[in-house]
Amino acid sequence: APIVVRTLPSLRRALERLRARRATIALVPTMGALHEGHLALVRQAKRRASKVVVSIFVNPTQFAPHEDFGSYPRTWKADMAKLAEAKVDLVWHPDVSAMYPQGFATRISTEGPAMAGLEDRFRPHFFGGVTTVVGKLFIQCRPDLALFGQKDYQQLKVVARMAADLNLGVKIIGVPIVRERDGLAMSSRNVYLSIEQRAVAPTLYSVMKDAAERLRKGNHLEAVLADGARTIEDAGFSLDYFEARHAETLSPVRSIKDGPVRFLVAAKIGATRLIDNIGV
Ligand code: PAJ
Repeated sequence: APIVVRTLPSLRRALERLRARRATIALVPTMGALHEGHLALVRQAKRRASKVVVSIFVNPTQFAPHEDFGSYPRTWKADMAKLAEAKVDLVWHPDVSAMYPQGFATRISTEGPAMAGLEDRFRPHFFGGVTTVVGKLFIQCRPDLALFGQKDYQQLKVVARMAADLNLGVKIIGVPIVRERDGLAMSSRNVYLSIEQRAVAPTLYSVMKDAAERLRKGNHLEAVLADGARTIEDAGFSLDYFEARHAETLSPVRSIKDGPVRFLVAAKIGATRLIDNIGV
């Protein structure tokens, strides 16, 4: 089973041991409630580095007061069984006071095209919390590389920007989205869905796949987006956004010629908010 550390001094000692013999270290930051999507990151990490560290920390600063910090699924025992099976070396599992001690007053924030709109428009507190905690994780663990899922595509781009801008010396690797058999992107929040909601949830993926195909076939981007938005709303979602952006910079695009294009979607079904994206 992996070593579990819960304080900074024990993290430091454990990392010193891992780093002996010039090991390369990969970090996989998570909030626990692990599923096959997280495990794809771990497997990719095993392939690319000699030692793998997984952090499990439900980060309060990236949740707004009305969001699900309190009820976010916490499945410690099952998570540990999966990480043991995946042969992870070290699990960093601080409590909130180890990460944000009394008097904590510093924030890492990132600006620019990757930050503009999309998630930031609907969750304005979110990326500030993510860049602050991921920046701290990078400084605490000093990994050679860190793996993030394309599931949270804007998060991947924002974190890559932050790591480069702060010269943290960590290579950021994006891992493709792992999906259920019917196309729904795996997410720790999928457990919130009722049977009826779960049945319509794959609509997000089917709409994006169809949109990508129609764009490739020469349909106008504006029409493709409008039709996709209507299909999503007709299925019973409350749509936050369905947009096309440049896949690398996340700048807005007006046609396929401005690409490579990435479609990104966020929509609520009942109280549960789902996000997904696809490349064209
Ligand atoms: P969490 O939602 O636990 O996700 C941890 C990592 O797993 C993220 O990089 C996310 O993109 C990836 N992931 C989740 N579902 C995936 C799927 N279906 N396929 C591929 N990758 C998937 O994202 C966070 O935690 C937090 O914001 C964090 C980065 C840990 C900072 O608190």
